[in-house]
Amino acid sequence: MSREDVVELLYIVAFSLFITGLHMLRGPRTAVRGNQIAAVGMAIAVVATLLQRQVGDWILIVVGVAIGTAVGVPAARSVKMTAMPQMVALFNGVGGGAVALISIVEFRASGGDLALRSLIPILFAAIIGSISFWGSNIAFLKLQEVMRRGIRTPKAINAGLLLIAVALAVIIAAGSDSELLFWLILVSAGALGVLAVVPIGGADMPVVISTLNAFTGLSAAAAGIALQNTALIVAGMLVGASGSILTKQMAEAMNRSIGNVFFAGVGAGGAAALAAPAGGGTARSTSAADVAIQLSYARLVVVVPGYGMAVAQAQRAVADLATELEKRGVEVLFAIHPVAGRMPGHMNVLLAEADVPYEKLKEMDDINGEFARTDVALIIGANDVTNPAARTVPDSPIYGMPILDVDKSSSVIVLKRSMNSGFAGIDNPLFYDPKTAMLFGDAKASVSDIVGEVQAL
Ligand code: TAP
Repeated sequence: MSREDVVELLYIVAFSLFITGLHMLRGPRTAVRGNQIAAVGMAIAVVATLLQRQVGDWILIVVGVAIGTAVGVPAARSVKMTAMPQMVALFNGVGGGAVALISIVEFRASGGDLALRSLIPILFAAIIGSISFWGSNIAFLKLQEVMRRGIRTPKAINAGLLLIAVALAVIIAAGSDSELLFWLILVSAGALGVLAVVPIGGADMPVVISTLNAFTGLSAAAAGIALQNTALIVAGMLVGASGSILTKQMAEAMNRSIGNVFFAGVGAGGAAALAAPAGGGTARSTSAADVAIQLSYARLVVVVPGYGMAVAQAQRAVADLATELEKRGVEVLFAIHPVAGRMPGHMNVLLAEADVPYEKLKEMDDINGEFARTDVALIIGANDVTNPAARTVPDSPIYGMPILDVDKSSSVIVLKRSMNSGFAGIDNPLFYDPKTAMLFGDAKASVSDIVGEVQAL
């Protein structure tokens, strides 16, 4: 067996492990093992790459792996669960940036004199990798809430930048070997990445993040075609395909089209949309004792978890409350909005960790019909995903986004610390609805107090 055969065989083993690992990411119980299996696959792919190279090249690769490990491992270990989405955005950006760098090196090394079958993937990788790098860094700043509000940029600029990048790529593909043109492609694609993500406000970040994720995968696959590296093609396509499916699901969940999100500044919101309460009136506050009585005498309670449950790490207390109520004959269901929290499946993961049975978790389409017969909708640190402005205020950055119809239940109790807005930065008229009562405080402390009061009844 030649060295090339061994390398190809190792690559096949590596991407079999990637696919197995990805398959196991479907559920929280198998996800950790799936991640470990995929990591072993990546280690095998690195070994296969080393085998392809002269021993002299190893030093650079080993130094690169060592630096990556020294930065990545402590960062991943120390990151708080609530900051995980930002970290994923950064990692995604690093992937896109690496692909853009590969394209630069390949173009320069060849002096632009490449066969079209390598040149076209390199140009594709340069454009998409650069968009992904810059866009992901802006997404990081937004998720970190360093950059909060959406700033509108004229949509024609984004379309123009894309046209420029593609036109320059066509000129190079047609025979120009100008390095300056290649750099201009990177600059215009990078500017597009920044300007496309900067205006995104409201609640559209999930669509953006999954799109950038798909972009990084597709650009890596293109780099794999240029480098004739099977593992990079397969790994890139897996990321590209899963990111594209996620993008489609997120866009459907938010009732948005990708074109609208990136080119029309939907969700950016104007000053009016970010201004004061649509509902007017005052919010009514309540106590843990009153909430406990209301819950204990209900027939159906629907718990609506949101980002605040993750911040407070209240999931176990919430699971205990559900158990206490069920002991008293109350039916308890959980309403899961597809973009609740800060990452896809965030609420499912937290509730699975607290051993809430999976069949009690109801997706938005399944639970919305149940609110009419719900006695109490108990909202744990959720805000945007319950905001009726999405139905009624055309100016609102979340207008058109499907929400959980909690306002259709007989009464609503909201657990949060203040009247502050959620991720979209807008007020929520639900809080001023006469049937809503606010229980102010950290969600974990509030839920624990309610559990104590229920037990004492
Ligand atoms: P948000 O609308 O962000 O609201 C969360 C609420 O939790 C805040 O209003 C906050 O109010 C409260 N909170 C924070 N810490 C708390 C604590 N310790 N105890 C109690 N409450 C606490 O959350 P949501 O309803 O889950 O909606 C998610 C939003 O994030 C959407 O706009 C979505 O588009 C966006 N987003 C989602 C994703 C994905 S993929 N899920 C990714 C990026 C962005 P106080 O400060 O008053 O406590």
